[in-house]
Amino acid sequence: MKKPAAKTLAKFAGPLVLLGAGKMGSAMLDGWLAHGLSPRKLVVLEPQPGKAVKALARRGLKLNPKGKPAAAAAIVIAVKPQSAPEAVPSLRAHVGKTTLVLSIMAGRTLGFLENALPGATAIVRAMPNTPAAIGRGITVAVGNGKVSARQRKLASDLLAAIGTVEWVGDEALMNAVTALSGSGPAYVFLLAEAMTKAGIAAGLPAELAAQLARETVAGSGELLHRSTVDAAALRQNVTSPSGTTAAALDVLMGPGGFDELLTKAIAAAARRGRELAG
Ligand SMILES: NC(=O)c1ccc[n+]([C@@H]2O[C@H](COP(=O)([O-])OP(=O)(O)OC[C@H]3O[C@@H](n4cnc5c(N)ncnc54)[C@H](OP(=O)(O)O)[C@@H]3O)[C@@H](O)[C@H]2O)c1
Repeated sequence: MKKPAAKTLAKFAGPLVLLGAGKMGSAMLDGWLAHGLSPRKLVVLEPQPGKAVKALARRGLKLNPKGKPAAAAAIVIAVKPQSAPEAVPSLRAHVGKTTLVLSIMAGRTLGFLENALPGATAIVRAMPNTPAAIGRGITVAVGNGKVSARQRKLASDLLAAIGTVEWVGDEALMNAVTALSGSGPAYVFLLAEAMTKAGIAAGLPAELAAQLARETVAGSGELLHRSTVDAAALRQNVTSPSGTTAAALDVLMGPGGFDELLTKAIAAAARRGRELAG
């Protein structure tokens, strides 16, 4: 049975402003509520709120409030990077002396955010991934020089609501992070797709092949998650010398195999991240 979430946000005074309640913003919102945050401490700015946000507005969440806002304790930016030039400056009115701004926008740098917000604003840039939707994401965060220890702890608590959190000191690493864990779920889903096709090519009915691929990827992921040993040891555990797995691994680990392909793929994603950041 799943453990109930620790109420790490129960004592957070707020207000917490969320800009953009799309897929990621809503996943974070769900996580915050599960971690004890009261809807009354939340302000959501979202032109097209979904049913869940509208229901929370009936429980005290402030949805697109009018008038002069109070300074926020924290602001989370979860709009698409393309919306940022228009959306981020509109947050200025919510920024006070001790406000923490936390952005999860891919490719939008600390420098971009510093230019769009009042000088001296404490800013954290973070890159989550889509397993955040089930509280099993991994997020890497980097802060600017204005982030205090308390604000860093707050950013960690807000991000921990959607999974594991790691910090880096060098923002330049965020392109590699995006390429590995940000885009990574797509590589794993592609693996399931490719295994399905390969199973069909080996003679299995399509439906059975899809089920075997899905459960194998999901079950192996969970085994890796729960295991104390690393992926290489788990791989070796299913590989007997000269057996069937070894025959497949000879192909996958040979020239032009997995390692080479993923190194190329992740380098391409990191390069694209650098291009998009300008
Ligand atoms: N999905 C991922 O795998 C992933 C991973 C890491 C980081 N991220 C980052 O997370 C951010 C959100 O991604 P997402 O997939 O959640 O996108 P999304 O579902 O499109 O959500 C963005 C939401 O923000 C709203 N919005 C747009 N302009 C706004 C404005 N000016 N004020 C307030 N709300 C506004 C959008 O409304 P409309 O629909 O009306 O435009 C939409 O509901 C992106 O910056 C992305 O780079 C995503």
